[in-house]
Amino acid sequence: MPSSTNETSNTVSGGWSTIQPSDVSRRTFNPIRDILSRPVQPLSTPKSIKPPISLSIGDPTVFGNFKTHSAVVEAVEEATRSYTFNGYPPSVGVLQAREAVAKKYSCPDTPLNSNDVIMTSGCSGAVEMAIGVLCSEGQNILLPRPGFCLYNTVAGSRNIEARLYNLLADKNWEVDIDHMESLIDSKTAAILINNPSNPCGSNFTKAHLKAILAVCERHKIPLISDEIYADMVFSGQVFTPTATLTSTVPILTLGGLAKQWLVPGWRIGWILVHDRSGAFSQVRQGLFALSTLINGPCAIVQAAIPKIFSEVPDDYLPELNEKLEAHARILETELKKVPGIDVITPQGAMYVMAKLNLDMFADISDDADFCQKLKWEENVEILPGECFAYPGTVRLVITPPQSELKTATERIRAFCRRHSN
Ligand SMILES: Cc1ncc(COP(=O)(O)O)c(C=O)c1O
Repeated sequence: MPSSTNETSNTVSGGWSTIQPSDVSRRTFNPIRDILSRPVQPLSTPKSIKPPISLSIGDPTVFGNFKTHSAVVEAVEEATRSYTFNGYPPSVGVLQAREAVAKKYSCPDTPLNSNDVIMTSGCSGAVEMAIGVLCSEGQNILLPRPGFCLYNTVAGSRNIEARLYNLLADKNWEVDIDHMESLIDSKTAAILINNPSNPCGSNFTKAHLKAILAVCERHKIPLISDEIYADMVFSGQVFTPTATLTSTVPILTLGGLAKQWLVPGWRIGWILVHDRSGAFSQVRQGLFALSTLINGPCAIVQAAIPKIFSEVPDDYLPELNEKLEAHARILETELKKVPGIDVITPQGAMYVMAKLNLDMFADISDDADFCQKLKWEENVEILPGECFAYPGTVRLVITPPQSELKTATERIRAFCRRHSN
């Protein structure tokens, strides 16, 4: 008797049928990848012959205008030439990398040592391991809305229910604390926050982080704090690592080299285990176990981390932030001139979020329609809020060269005028 899976499968050749992918793979869905791979539908107007401008993917390297520091490249060169790191690294990471990460992110009240650091394949690997170690099938995790879609993808693939708590656009994207708390029940295994935020470009104040920690404390729920944009904030803003604000809440802090060091392709991430009151002793073992699935990221780049941290000059990060802010302000200023779009001032990271006033457009049904038509008519690619579970908005990446940002916003303005009521 064929199984129901086989019944639906097609016979190919040589007596074979189409092999069905697993349930886990079927449940794995990343909306950003999906939207970017959708064909742009032919519409009534001809496709733009203008050169493409992509403000969609959070990869600062694609235009060549954001380059990592030469000391970063030299550190990797040196590690490669040493011929010392061509073998398998320990699954939790190369010791000197773990030591360097622990030292860099230790604070007097939150001391870390190498045992508290697990190296991962990008911060994506850290997200997967952190959710994987804290949540079991049938439990739930609280995630931000709008939020980075990988969280939902990971939870969904593992049959973990994603409960989305609201971020408030008119309060610099702070968490709606009451809403967050209302989602908690006996099956809530973790709360995840992302600060500074993708897609919001926001940065929480200390007081707000403390309010979130108070929720964790009241319900005794561990926190995952995705800080891949740590220290990437604009003038007047102070970034605070969440773990420095509590001596009781157990926290897994996620980070990596991708954004601050402008090397997302190197796939280096980490988890910092802030083990409070020993609450994470078993979780730590769980993380060690999960790390053995992959054996860590590239050993050579791990080995370069101590030099990357020590040899990149102190002015590198302030200069990077200054440049990012200049880009963000151009987008913000130019988009403010566009009818039908309300920009929310970004405070850090690499993104600008804007609300669409859909009533002002004659023939745009929603954010996905806006982005598709914009791409078709103006060859400008931005992401609809749909990707971040927040319809009615769009997200723009700020890292393309300033001239491209200006051209993109001119095209967006022409597009909005053309489609306005
Ligand atoms: C909030 C957030 N977390 C995690 C990641 C994943 O980082 P990585 O590229 O190091 O896997 C990203 C990447 O854009 C991100 O924006």
